[in-house]
Amino acid sequence: MNRCLATLLLIFTTCALKAQVVDFSKLPLLQGETLKDNKGAAINAHGAGILFHNGVYYLYGEIKKGKTWLVPGQSWEDYRVPAGGISCYSSRDLVSWKYEGIALAPSTGNGSSDIDTGRVIERPKVIYNAVTKQFVMWMHIDTRDYAFARAGVAVSNSPTGPFVYRGSIRPNGQMARDMTVFKDDDGKAYLIYSSENNATMQVCLLSTDYLSPTTRYSRILVNRSREAPAMFKYGKKYFLITSACTGWSPNQATYAVAERPLGPWKEFGNPCRGTDADKTFYAQSTYVLPVDAAKGQYLFLADKWNKLDLERSTYTWLPLQMTADGPVIPAKLRASAPLR
Ligand code: GAL
Repeated sequence: MNRCLATLLLIFTTCALKAQVVDFSKLPLLQGETLKDNKGAAINAHGAGILFHNGVYYLYGEIKKGKTWLVPGQSWEDYRVPAGGISCYSSRDLVSWKYEGIALAPSTGNGSSDIDTGRVIERPKVIYNAVTKQFVMWMHIDTRDYAFARAGVAVSNSPTGPFVYRGSIRPNGQMARDMTVFKDDDGKAYLIYSSENNATMQVCLLSTDYLSPTTRYSRILVNRSREAPAMFKYGKKYFLITSACTGWSPNQATYAVAERPLGPWKEFGNPCRGTDADKTFYAQSTYVLPVDAAKGQYLFLADKWNKLDLERSTYTWLPLQMTADGPVIPAKLRASAPLR
């Protein structure tokens, strides 16, 4: 390679790397607050996940719209709204968000469809497969009594969709409810889900095209009744933040650590600090986004559910900083960066 080309490449790489790093001190921090897009409309993206792709952050979440009602005949607070599908928003700085439309539309009037408005479509997470060049969305699919307990998958050639729904599965015959996906540096991807009637979590290696579970899976946090998983990597270690199982009501988070995604995992204490830390600031984990992973800086995303009016649920986005004592999520200490 000649020197001129090498210099150009260096400049390009440096710029590309710089574009990836959002200033940690200027992140939009929310604690039970609404979030608006750049046209002033309320962002509707609950149980969300974020994909960072080619310098752009894509936020995907559950569209919660309409009257909240209580499913009759359940022994727990099965409040719900019609499944509204999955929304997508994009941003270059995590501050200004553009609405990209409905990434996965629900079907209407077809009660036997997994993605009918009468069903449950929750906790979507999207990863990019560099080999197939497809964007793959995994989500929790259920019937309104939450007895179906399956993982659904959809694909798209574009990050903003439209995603085409491919179907649902119980990985290795195992129940799957609250879930997330994690893509490792080596390109391997994992589905992490509450299983065994929510008593035990499982981590399952996905196929190389990310479209199906493989037979390689492990049982983790056995009989700990954890849900709302959010996985991230710091250095060579893997971290998993989860909540307890108390439906829409808040509880205390914990984090777990492993040397490999399939475990073994060891559970530690609560990463939250400050007022209401014992209730995760009245929110429930959904995703941890690397902001500057080399410096141990992440953004913790959580939902502050309003169970009697789910459409009015709000967002809690707080900094997560790795320390010698593990991940620390402090209560909101400063005003948020102004949203544009
Ligand atoms: C929560 C779960 C939410 C939703 C809710 C239904 O525990 O994290 O995603 O499924 O239960 O009550």
